[in-house]
Amino acid sequence: MTHPKIFITRLIPSRGLILVEERFPTFEIWPHEMPPTREQLLEKVRGVDGLLCLLTEKIDAELMDAAGSQLKVISSMSVGVDHVDVAAATARGIPIGNTPGVLTDATADMAFALLFSAARRVVEGEKYIRAGKWKTWHPQLLLGKDFVGATLGIVGFGRIGEAVAKRAQGFDMRVIFYDPTAEPAYGAQSVDLDTLLHQSDFVSLHVPLTTKTKHLVNADFLAKMKPNAILVNTARGGVVDQVALYDVLKSKQIFAAALDVTDPEPLPMDSPLLELENCLIVPHLGSASQRARDLMSQLAAENLIAGLKGERLPNCVNPEVYK
Ligand code: GLV
Repeated sequence: MTHPKIFITRLIPSRGLILVEERFPTFEIWPHEMPPTREQLLEKVRGVDGLLCLLTEKIDAELMDAAGSQLKVISSMSVGVDHVDVAAATARGIPIGNTPGVLTDATADMAFALLFSAARRVVEGEKYIRAGKWKTWHPQLLLGKDFVGATLGIVGFGRIGEAVAKRAQGFDMRVIFYDPTAEPAYGAQSVDLDTLLHQSDFVSLHVPLTTKTKHLVNADFLAKMKPNAILVNTARGGVVDQVALYDVLKSKQIFAAALDVTDPEPLPMDSPLLELENCLIVPHLGSASQRARDLMSQLAAENLIAGLKGERLPNCVNPEVYK
């Protein structure tokens, strides 16, 4: 195949684009800041052999059929693939690529950045100054939570969960985790979910979004957390029932939440969560370091190129397509 038809749904870092261009110079790229609408995407994928997408695109059976039976590979520049109907792709023999590993440290760093910011009220302090409220150093001003000796509960102990545990060691925290499929590492102790919620001063979420984890953090989960605990979410917004979260934050049943991800993204400006001082929200920045995004674009390009050449993807979510 000398000139496969390729569509890339946004301007990804040049590291990945150069790789694609060297091998297949005739690709088409969506040049706008905003992603293509559903209609535009269905139109653009028609007849493509390879698709490189982001987590903002819903890649379902309808889209695969709109592309056509020649579609050889779907490469997502993300580790999470909850936006892709993997079963539909497998049924059509289409390998799905993702970008694990290279964003582990950046995402664990962001989990810690949020944890610190919420615990030590960094954003509240910044807003306080800009509002002209700071009059003097005061012994009781914006007091927060301590890390030394505190218990950090990690829900989901995959690559990113482990990297969070590794960082917590440096802050002399006790670390426990809930993940029936994982082995202990970095001094973290495996516990059941109720134990984790009852004992943790900080709860950090690191599970993928699946039918099993959708609204895992519901009213029942939140009611089991310690009264002064902090919830951090760098996983997926859909893991948290935001109505239940709003209730416990509003009534100060827990100290704070810090969210890198929400459902939907972005949150509508009239979302009640945006009214709360004790809810810190940033725009899905977990992997947003230059290095992580460069490497993600590289892996996404390598998956795309391998798929177009009929080779096994270096990072394939559904290797059963090769059986
Ligand atoms: C980011 O959230 C990703 O899945 O890569």
